[in-house]
Amino acid sequence: MSDVKEAVRSRYAGVARQLAVLQPDPSAGCCQADGPDCGCTGSYSADELKEIGLTESVSLGCGNPTMIAQLEPGQVVLDLGSGAGLDVLLSARRVAPGGHAYGLDMTDEMLQLANDHKAKAGVANATFLKGSIDNVPLPDASVDVVISNCVINLAEDKAAVIKEAFRVLRPGGLFAVADMVELEALDPDLKQRLDAWAGCISGTIPIDEYRATLLAAGFADADFQVHATETIPGVDGKVGSAYIRARKPTGK
Ligand SMILES: C[S@@+](CC[C@H](N)C(=O)[O-])C[C@H]1O[C@@H](n2cnc3c(N)ncnc32)[C@H](O)[C@@H]1O
Repeated sequence: MSDVKEAVRSRYAGVARQLAVLQPDPSAGCCQADGPDCGCTGSYSADELKEIGLTESVSLGCGNPTMIAQLEPGQVVLDLGSGAGLDVLLSARRVAPGGHAYGLDMTDEMLQLANDHKAKAGVANATFLKGSIDNVPLPDASVDVVISNCVINLAEDKAAVIKEAFRVLRPGGLFAVADMVELEALDPDLKQRLDAWAGCISGTIPIDEYRATLLAAGFADADFQVHATETIPGVDGKVGSAYIRARKPTGK
Protein backbone atom coordinates (compact mmCIF):
# COMPACT_ATOMS: atom_id res chain seq x y z
CA MET A 1 0.00 0.00 0.00
CA SER A 2 1.36 3.48 -0.84
CA ASP A 3 2.19 5.99 1.92
CA VAL A 4 -0.80 8.14 0.95
CA LYS A 5 -3.24 5.24 0.98
CA GLU A 6 -1.90 3.98 4.32
CA ALA A 7 -2.23 7.50 5.81
CA VAL A 8 -5.87 7.57 4.64
CA ARG A 9 -6.62 4.03 5.86
CA SER A 10 -5.08 4.59 9.27
CA ARG A 11 -6.85 7.93 9.78
CA TYR A 12 -10.26 6.43 9.05
CA ALA A 13 -9.56 3.28 11.07
CA GLY A 14 -9.00 5.63 14.03
CA VAL A 15 -12.11 7.66 13.26
CA ALA A 16 -14.18 4.46 13.03
CA ARG A 17 -12.91 3.33 16.43
CA GLN A 18 -13.89 6.73 17.89
CA LEU A 19 -17.34 6.60 16.30
CA ALA A 20 -17.87 3.08 17.60
CA VAL A 21 -17.40 4.11 21.23
CA LEU A 22 -18.42 7.77 21.29
CA GLN A 23 -21.54 9.64 20.44
CA PRO A 24 -20.61 11.25 17.13
CA ASP A 25 -19.62 14.89 17.41
CA PRO A 26 -21.67 16.97 14.95
CA SER A 27 -18.60 19.15 14.30
CA ALA A 28 -16.63 16.09 13.19
CA GLY A 29 -17.77 15.99 9.58
CA CYS A 30 -16.02 16.55 6.29
CA CYS A 31 -13.25 14.03 6.68
CA GLN A 32 -11.84 15.67 9.80
CA ALA A 33 -12.78 13.98 13.07
CA ASP A 34 -11.18 16.95 14.80
CA GLY A 35 -11.74 19.40 12.02
CA PRO A 36 -13.91 22.21 10.77
CA ASP A 37 -17.35 22.30 9.28
CA CYS A 38 -17.08 22.69 5.54
CA GLY A 39 -20.70 22.40 4.64
CA CYS A 40 -21.96 19.06 5.85
CA THR A 41 -23.58 19.98 9.16
CA GLY A 42 -27.30 19.92 8.58
CA SER A 43 -27.05 17.90 5.39
CA TYR A 44 -29.20 15.17 6.92
CA SER A 45 -32.63 15.81 8.43
CA ALA A 46 -33.69 14.25 11.72
CA ASP A 47 -36.39 12.36 9.80
CA GLU A 48 -33.83 10.83 7.41
CA LEU A 49 -31.67 9.71 10.32
CA LYS A 50 -34.71 8.25 12.08
CA GLU A 51 -35.50 6.19 8.97
CA ILE A 52 -32.31 4.24 9.60
CA GLY A 53 -32.45 4.18 13.38
CA LEU A 54 -29.95 6.96 14.10
CA THR A 55 -30.39 10.04 16.25
CA GLU A 56 -27.11 11.70 15.21
CA SER A 57 -25.34 11.86 11.87
CA VAL A 58 -22.34 9.54 11.49
CA SER A 59 -21.29 11.33 8.31
CA LEU A 60 -17.67 12.17 7.61
CA GLY A 61 -18.72 13.61 4.30
CA CYS A 62 -19.03 17.05 2.75
CA GLY A 63 -22.65 17.00 1.66
CA ASN A 64 -25.51 14.55 1.19
CA PRO A 65 -25.22 12.82 -2.20
CA THR A 66 -28.59 11.11 -1.75
CA MET A 67 -30.16 14.57 -2.22
CA ILE A 68 -28.85 14.79 -5.81
CA ALA A 69 -29.04 11.12 -6.78
CA GLN A 70 -32.73 10.94 -7.82
CA LEU A 71 -33.00 7.39 -6.46
CA GLU A 72 -35.99 5.25 -7.38
CA PRO A 73 -37.32 1.86 -6.27
CA GLY A 74 -35.62 -1.03 -8.06
CA GLN A 75 -32.29 0.72 -8.70
CA VAL A 76 -28.80 -0.51 -7.83
CA VAL A 77 -26.61 2.09 -6.07
CA LEU A 78 -22.90 1.99 -5.30
CA ASP A 79 -21.27 4.27 -2.70
CA LEU A 80 -17.51 4.70 -3.22
CA GLY A 81 -15.84 4.96 0.23
CA SER A 82 -18.95 4.24 2.29
CA GLY A 83 -17.46 4.90 5.75
CA ALA A 84 -19.95 4.30 8.57
CA GLY A 85 -22.68 3.50 6.04
CA LEU A 86 -25.08 6.42 6.34
CA ASP A 87 -25.49 7.14 2.60
CA VAL A 88 -25.73 3.42 1.77
CA LEU A 89 -28.49 2.83 4.31
CA LEU A 90 -30.45 5.91 3.19
CA SER A 91 -30.03 4.80 -0.44
CA ALA A 92 -31.20 1.28 0.42
CA ARG A 93 -34.43 2.74 1.82
CA ARG A 94 -34.92 4.88 -1.33
CA VAL A 95 -34.42 1.98 -3.79
CA ALA A 96 -36.70 -0.47 -1.96
CA PRO A 97 -38.54 -2.49 -3.00
CA GLY A 98 -36.50 -4.39 -5.53
CA GLY A 99 -33.29 -2.31 -5.41
CA HIS A 100 -29.97 -2.76 -3.66
CA ALA A 101 -27.30 -0.45 -2.22
CA TYR A 102 -23.60 -1.42 -2.13
CA GLY A 103 -20.97 0.34 -0.06
CA LEU A 104 -17.30 -0.11 -0.89
CA ASP A 105 -14.56 0.73 1.60
CA MET A 106 -10.97 -0.40 2.19
CA THR A 107 -10.91 0.12 5.98
CA ASP A 108 -11.92 -2.90 8.10
CA GLU A 109 -12.96 -0.76 11.07
CA MET A 110 -15.32 1.30 8.87
CA LEU A 111 -16.82 -1.85 7.34
CA GLN A 112 -17.46 -3.24 10.84
CA LEU A 113 -19.15 0.01 11.91
CA ALA A 114 -21.24 0.14 8.73
CA ASN A 115 -22.42 -3.44 9.29
CA ASP A 116 -23.30 -2.59 12.91
CA HIS A 117 -25.37 0.38 11.65
CA LYS A 118 -27.02 -1.85 9.05
CA ALA A 119 -28.04 -4.35 11.74
CA LYS A 120 -29.43 -1.58 13.98
CA ALA A 121 -31.34 -0.05 11.06
CA GLY A 122 -32.85 -3.40 10.07
CA VAL A 123 -31.98 -2.76 6.42
CA ALA A 124 -31.83 -5.96 4.33
CA ASN A 125 -31.05 -4.61 0.85
CA ALA A 126 -27.54 -3.25 1.55
CA THR A 127 -24.13 -4.92 1.28
CA PHE A 128 -20.76 -3.55 2.38
CA LEU A 129 -17.84 -4.73 0.26
CA LYS A 130 -14.15 -4.55 1.06
CA GLY A 131 -11.99 -3.13 -1.69
CA SER A 132 -10.44 -0.11 -3.27
CA ILE A 133 -12.43 2.44 -5.23
CA ASP A 134 -9.96 2.23 -8.13
CA ASN A 135 -10.74 -1.50 -8.54
CA VAL A 136 -14.45 -1.99 -7.86
CA PRO A 137 -15.51 -5.62 -7.23
CA LEU A 138 -18.70 -5.36 -9.30
CA PRO A 139 -19.36 -6.30 -12.94
CA ASP A 140 -19.54 -3.89 -15.88
CA ALA A 141 -22.84 -2.03 -16.34
CA SER A 142 -24.34 -3.39 -13.10
CA VAL A 143 -25.14 -0.12 -11.27
CA ASP A 144 -27.73 2.62 -11.92
CA VAL A 145 -26.26 5.33 -9.68
CA VAL A 146 -22.75 5.83 -8.29
CA ILE A 147 -22.64 8.05 -5.21
CA SER A 148 -19.70 9.07 -3.04
CA ASN A 149 -19.20 11.53 -0.21
CA CYS A 150 -15.84 13.21 0.34
CA VAL A 151 -13.72 10.29 -0.86
CA ILE A 152 -12.52 10.74 -4.46
CA ASN A 153 -10.27 13.62 -3.35
CA LEU A 154 -8.44 11.06 -1.18
CA ALA A 155 -7.47 8.89 -4.16
CA GLU A 156 -4.02 9.25 -5.69
CA ASP A 157 -5.26 8.16 -9.12
CA LYS A 158 -8.58 9.95 -9.56
CA ALA A 159 -8.76 9.03 -13.25
CA ALA A 160 -8.70 5.32 -12.30
CA VAL A 161 -11.56 5.83 -9.82
CA ILE A 162 -13.68 7.74 -12.32
CA LYS A 163 -13.01 5.12 -15.02
CA GLU A 164 -14.22 2.44 -12.59
CA ALA A 165 -17.38 4.46 -11.85
CA PHE A 166 -17.99 4.69 -15.60
CA ARG A 167 -17.34 0.96 -16.11
CA VAL A 168 -19.80 -0.23 -13.46
CA LEU A 169 -22.58 2.20 -14.47
CA ARG A 170 -25.24 1.08 -16.90
CA PRO A 171 -25.64 3.25 -20.02
CA GLY A 172 -27.66 6.28 -18.91
CA GLY A 173 -26.47 5.82 -15.31
CA LEU A 174 -25.81 8.75 -12.98
CA PHE A 175 -22.64 9.82 -11.12
CA ALA A 176 -23.90 11.88 -8.14
CA VAL A 177 -21.10 12.79 -5.79
CA ALA A 178 -20.23 15.19 -2.97
CA ASP A 179 -16.51 15.95 -2.91
CA MET A 180 -13.92 18.56 -1.97
CA VAL A 181 -12.39 20.61 -4.78
CA GLU A 182 -9.47 23.04 -5.00
CA LEU A 183 -10.80 26.55 -5.70
CA GLU A 184 -7.42 28.34 -5.48
CA ALA A 185 -3.90 26.89 -5.61
CA LEU A 186 -2.78 25.58 -2.21
CA ASP A 187 0.69 26.06 -0.75
CA PRO A 188 3.01 23.43 -2.37
CA ASP A 189 4.28 22.35 1.08
CA LEU A 190 0.72 21.73 2.24
CA LYS A 191 0.06 19.67 -0.91
CA GLN A 192 2.84 17.29 0.23
CA ARG A 193 1.48 16.69 3.75
CA LEU A 194 0.00 13.24 4.35
CA ASP A 195 -2.15 14.41 7.27
CA ALA A 196 -3.68 17.16 5.12
CA TRP A 197 -4.22 14.61 2.32
CA ALA A 198 -6.04 12.27 4.70
CA GLY A 199 -8.00 15.31 5.94
CA CYS A 200 -9.45 15.92 2.44
CA ILE A 201 -7.39 19.06 1.74
CA SER A 202 -4.17 18.25 -0.15
CA GLY A 203 -5.61 15.69 -2.55
CA THR A 204 -8.20 18.11 -3.94
CA ILE A 205 -8.02 19.06 -7.61
CA PRO A 206 -9.42 22.09 -9.48
CA ILE A 207 -12.91 21.84 -10.96
CA ASP A 208 -11.56 22.12 -14.53
CA GLU A 209 -9.27 19.12 -13.96
CA TYR A 210 -12.11 17.12 -12.31
CA ARG A 211 -14.42 17.93 -15.24
CA ALA A 212 -11.74 16.96 -17.79
CA THR A 213 -11.22 13.64 -15.98
CA LEU A 214 -14.96 12.89 -16.10
CA LEU A 215 -15.17 13.76 -19.80
CA ALA A 216 -12.02 11.73 -20.62
CA ALA A 217 -13.64 8.68 -18.99
CA GLY A 218 -16.68 9.12 -21.27
CA PHE A 219 -19.12 10.95 -18.99
CA ALA A 220 -21.36 13.73 -20.34
CA ASP A 221 -23.20 16.68 -18.78
CA ALA A 222 -20.69 17.20 -15.95
CA ASP A 223 -22.03 19.79 -13.53
CA PHE A 224 -20.38 21.25 -10.40
CA GLN A 225 -22.12 23.24 -7.64
CA VAL A 226 -19.86 24.54 -4.87
CA HIS A 227 -21.97 24.87 -1.72
CA ALA A 228 -19.45 25.66 1.04
CA THR A 229 -15.81 26.61 1.52
CA GLU A 230 -13.20 25.62 4.09
CA THR A 231 -12.41 28.13 6.82
CA ILE A 232 -9.27 26.72 8.42
CA PRO A 233 -6.19 29.01 8.42
CA GLY A 234 -4.01 28.62 5.33
CA VAL A 235 -6.85 27.00 3.43
CA ASP A 236 -9.51 29.66 3.95
CA GLY A 237 -11.65 29.81 0.81
CA LYS A 238 -9.17 27.79 -1.25
CA VAL A 239 -10.96 24.46 -0.90
CA GLY A 240 -14.71 23.96 -1.21
CA SER A 241 -17.39 21.29 -0.99
CA ALA A 242 -19.10 20.61 -4.30
CA TYR A 243 -22.00 18.58 -5.60
CA ILE A 244 -20.92 16.89 -8.85
CA ARG A 245 -23.23 15.21 -11.32
CA ALA A 246 -22.45 13.56 -14.65
CA ARG A 247 -24.22 11.03 -16.87
CA LYS A 248 -22.95 7.92 -18.69
CA PRO A 249 -24.33 8.39 -22.22
CA THR A 250 -26.99 5.89 -23.23
CA GLY A 251 -25.02 4.73 -26.27
CA LYS A 252 -21.90 3.65 -24.31
C1 LIG B 1 -13.96 11.02 4.61
S1 LIG B 1 -14.48 9.41 4.90
C2 LIG B 1 -16.10 9.49 4.16
C3 LIG B 1 -16.95 8.34 4.55
C4 LIG B 1 -18.38 8.40 4.03
N1 LIG B 1 -18.44 8.52 2.61
C5 LIG B 1 -19.14 9.51 4.70
O1 LIG B 1 -19.62 10.41 3.98
O2 LIG B 1 -19.27 9.51 5.91
C6 LIG B 1 -13.53 8.50 3.70
C7 LIG B 1 -13.84 7.02 3.61
O3 LIG B 1 -13.33 6.54 2.37
C8 LIG B 1 -12.59 5.36 2.59
N2 LIG B 1 -11.56 5.33 1.53
C9 LIG B 1 -10.62 6.26 1.28
N3 LIG B 1 -9.89 5.91 0.21
C10 LIG B 1 -10.37 4.73 -0.23
C11 LIG B 1 -10.03 3.83 -1.29
N4 LIG B 1 -9.02 4.10 -2.12
N5 LIG B 1 -10.75 2.71 -1.44
C12 LIG B 1 -11.77 2.41 -0.59
N6 LIG B 1 -12.13 3.20 0.45
C13 LIG B 1 -11.45 4.35 0.62
C14 LIG B 1 -12.05 5.48 4.00
O4 LIG B 1 -11.77 4.22 4.55
C15 LIG B 1 -13.19 6.20 4.70
O5 LIG B 1 -14.13 5.28 5.22
